[in-house]
Amino acid sequence: MNTSVGNAGIGESVSTMDVIHHRRAVRDYLPDKVDAAVIHQLLDAAVHAPTAIHEEPWAFVIIQDKVILDRLSDKVKEMLVKGTDPIHPLFKSHGADRFTRPDFNAFYNAGTLVVIYGKPLGNFVVADCWLAAENLMLAACSLGFGTCPIGLAVAALNTPQWKQALGVPAELTAYAPIIVGKPAGATPVVPRKPPEILRWS
Ligand SMILES: Cc1cc2nc3c(=O)[nH]c(=O)nc-3n(C[C@H](O)[C@H](O)[C@H](O)COP(=O)(O)O)c2cc1C
Repeated sequence: MNTSVGNAGIGESVSTMDVIHHRRAVRDYLPDKVDAAVIHQLLDAAVHAPTAIHEEPWAFVIIQDKVILDRLSDKVKEMLVKGTDPIHPLFKSHGADRFTRPDFNAFYNAGTLVVIYGKPLGNFVVADCWLAAENLMLAACSLGFGTCPIGLAVAALNTPQWKQALGVPAELTAYAPIIVGKPAGATPVVPRKPPEILRWS
């Protein structure tokens, strides 16, 4: 598959393998807003992910309101510092200082957060939602946008308070919060180990 790319810095026409190798977790963004048309393209890519027994168990919340993003970031920081985030309990004693700093924003000041929620429809909902997330991130890269999954925000998003604030039914679970925006510059490569092949018979 060839994909036309914008200003991702990976050329005008790139293959799926190029996109896979050029996607980065971007943590510095330009203030430009991501247009609704682009968001729709990303959501379309997301829902074309494989889905176990064709359940399509995902639903999406898009937050582009800076006030809401900042309030959510504050909640993330509060839970980390108080040790009430069940996913990241170690932050209570390890490195909490970083999260108390006023300049730390869990979303790196990105203008858009897409949250992928899963409906309680079987044992592969988490897999389905993260496959959708990867589709979304690769599609964004191919269109010249940066992304980063924000696992730090999962616990805050799953509080009854934030589900209610965002109009999310209580039975849904936030799995994949992903920030999206125009990268402010080049993002260094985080190298990978070669695949560990346990057996090839
Ligand atoms: C499930 C998951 C949760 C993540 N949560 C965060 C996060 O909360 N904050 C952050 O800055 N990066 C987060 N990341 C991004 C990883 O740190 C990043 O993917 C990794 O360092 C490799 O870098 P690369 O994606 O640029 O190759 C997360 C990635 C995944 C897959």
